[in-house]
Parts: sequence; C-alpha cells; structure tokens
Amino acid sequence: MNNDIAGIRKTYASATLSEADMAADPVSQFDKWWKEAVNANLLEVNAMTLATASADGFPSARIVLLKGFDTAGFAFFTNYESFKGRQLEENPRACLVFFWKELERQVRITGVVQKTTGAESEEYFQSRPKGSQAGAAVSPQSRVIESREWLEHQYTEFENAHGDDHINRPGYWGGYRVAPVVVEFWQGRPSRLHDRMQYTLQDDGNWELVRLAP
Ligand SMILES: Cc1cc2nc3c(=O)[nH]c(=O)nc-3n(C[C@H](O)[C@H](O)[C@H](O)COP(=O)(O)O)c2cc1C
Repeated sequence: MNNDIAGIRKTYASATLSEADMAADPVSQFDKWWKEAVNANLLEVNAMTLATASADGFPSARIVLLKGFDTAGFAFFTNYESFKGRQLEENPRACLVFFWKELERQVRITGVVQKTTGAESEEYFQSRPKGSQAGAAVSPQSRVIESREWLEHQYTEFENAHGDDHINRPGYWGGYRVAPVVVEFWQGRPSRLHDRMQYTLQDDGNWELVRLAP
C-alpha cells in the first residue's frame, strides 16, 4: 500500500447523534441537518452523489444538485436521455449521498424515483439563467460528440436563432424525485465509533429508527 495515502486520517469530534436527537421522520431530520449545513456556509452544500443502476445491476454514480425536498422526496434536474436517465428508465431506484465534511456528516437516502411533473420541470427550467437553458437545450448529455468546437457551434447557433426570446424547455429535460425508503444519518466520532441512525419506511407508513454499528 502507498503509505502517503494510507496514512491520511482524521479524528471526528465535533458533534454527536443520539436517539433523543432524532426527529420522528427522516425528512424532518434532514431538514434540521440541512439548515445547519446552510448556516455553516458550506461550499456546494446541495451537491450530492446520485447512484443509479441498470436492470442488470451495474451501478453508476455522479454528482447532481439538490433542488428541493419535502415529504414527497428529494428533487434534482437533468437530461432524461442521459446515461442516468436511461438507467432510471430501466430501474427507477436510486441512492443519494451527501458528504458535509466540515460538519463530519454523511446522509444516505435510498428510494424510488419518479419524474417531477411537467409543471415543476417547467418552473425550474424557466428560473435558470438563459445560458444554462441554452446549454441544456443544445447538449445531448452523455452522448459521444465529435469535438468541443461542435458543442460551442451548437450553442452559438442556438443563441443566434433565439436572441432574447423565451427558451422552451426541451421535452428531454426535467426533474426526478427520490421518494425515500431508507435514510441513514452518519455523524463522525472519535476512534471510528461513529453514530449511525437509520430510518426505514414501514408498511403502515411509519418510520422505524435503529442504530447501526459504525
Ligand atoms: C458540482 C456538480 C453539480 C452537478 N449538477 C448536475 C445536475 O444538477 N444535473 C445534471 O444533470 N448534472 C449535474 N452535474 C454533472 C453530472 O455529474 C454528470 O456529469 C452528468 O449529469 C452526466 O451524467 P450521466 O452520464 O451519468 O447521466 C454536476 C456535476 C458537478 C461536479
């Protein structure tokens, strides 16, 4: 092993997480941690790893931005024809992971995925800067393209054709919402005795809360 890497380690000691701290449901608990993360002014606080898998079980993961959450789930926006979009079409299940390192916290959300409504996708698309709208409209996300020049040419052509006009949301662009089934909150602790509290959705709609070994 490369000792320069193997020797990197950190002691986590800034906070604790106990049964008494936990909200009755994971979305309320996430809301508490979310507010603390926002108040801590973390860089890219809404960046999260999104893991998907194809029907044959091959996983893939990438970062996307959380754009909203409530009891219905955690929303992000993307290209429905991208690699992740195709995996979600085959297998509408996903896992989201947040790592808020300054707070020594990780949250893992596993759930079932649905597209957001057209109205929700429209509202968010129209709230984006024009450049991002144009970028989304001209980029065949995850497809092979011949060159950077090709992409920039598409963008310039699009801008020339549209000027300051309203840009319609492309039909292949929109949101997904991950409705949580299992949610784990991880708080780093000294000696690797971390706190891990996990919620699992029950058949009756209630959440079971257990502590996991670190
Ligand atoms: C900080 C950060 C934020 C990103 N946010 C998004 C996003 O909200 N939506 C998105 O489609 N891609 C986002 N990306 C790009 C994705 O990581 C990824 O490259 C892209 O969605 C294609 O993924 P796929 O080929 O697995 O579908 C982001 C990347 C980074 C590093």
